[in-house]
Amino acid sequence: MQTTQDQMPAAPHLADDIDLFYLLREFETAYRYAPTGGSAPIRAHMRMVRERLAKILKAGPQTRMPEPASLPATRHLGRALDNGVREPTEIFVRATAKLAPRLRWEYGYEKLPAALARKYAYADILGPGGFVDCAELVLGFVLFAPGCVYPSHRHDGITESYIVLSGAVSENDLGVFRPPSMIFNAAGTTHTIRTSLHEPALLAYAWTGAADAIAGHTMKFTRARKK
Ligand SMILES: [Fe+2]
Repeated sequence: MQTTQDQMPAAPHLADDIDLFYLLREFETAYRYAPTGGSAPIRAHMRMVRERLAKILKAGPQTRMPEPASLPATRHLGRALDNGVREPTEIFVRATAKLAPRLRWEYGYEKLPAALARKYAYADILGPGGFVDCAELVLGFVLFAPGCVYPSHRHDGITESYIVLSGAVSENDLGVFRPPSMIFNAAGTTHTIRTSLHEPALLAYAWTGAADAIAGHTMKFTRARKK
């Protein structure tokens, strides 16, 4: 059988990749029905996420198949999923679990403190990386092992939100967020995330921004660690 690409089998259309399709539907549902708490910027961000996603779902694009990859933190994924099915995010968590063996977990930082390398990983679902290509929207997951401190960082030109699927996290010491809370980081604002000491945390995230801001984004911490 002849293939045009040596390493990768032909990618299916999104409509045929059932687990991926339903996972993206969960993202769309979350960004449609999560309460906005009266915040206009959050409402605008949610609308942008679901509109861009709806357009992609309607277009029925081909999907890519990134090589699955694990990192030290992903040893906690099973526990995070087990905890998450007891939360209001249960359906989202179950859709995530179906795709878990296919996820490509990454660091995204060139220089990562050793402690963070054991406790943090992210996996893109949609965006310049991930299963579905998109220039102006990124969707994915972040996984934190127990007792993780995700140091201060920011994303210039990119608006970020997290939906807590499992576990409990605090951001900037301003509050504790549990499923199905949404955390919102306006473009360019610095944020530090901490997780509880005893359980992992799994968060879905969305980035919106101009295509050049997303394509040119480099993950950097706000301050160099003194070590
Ligand atoms: Fe962030």
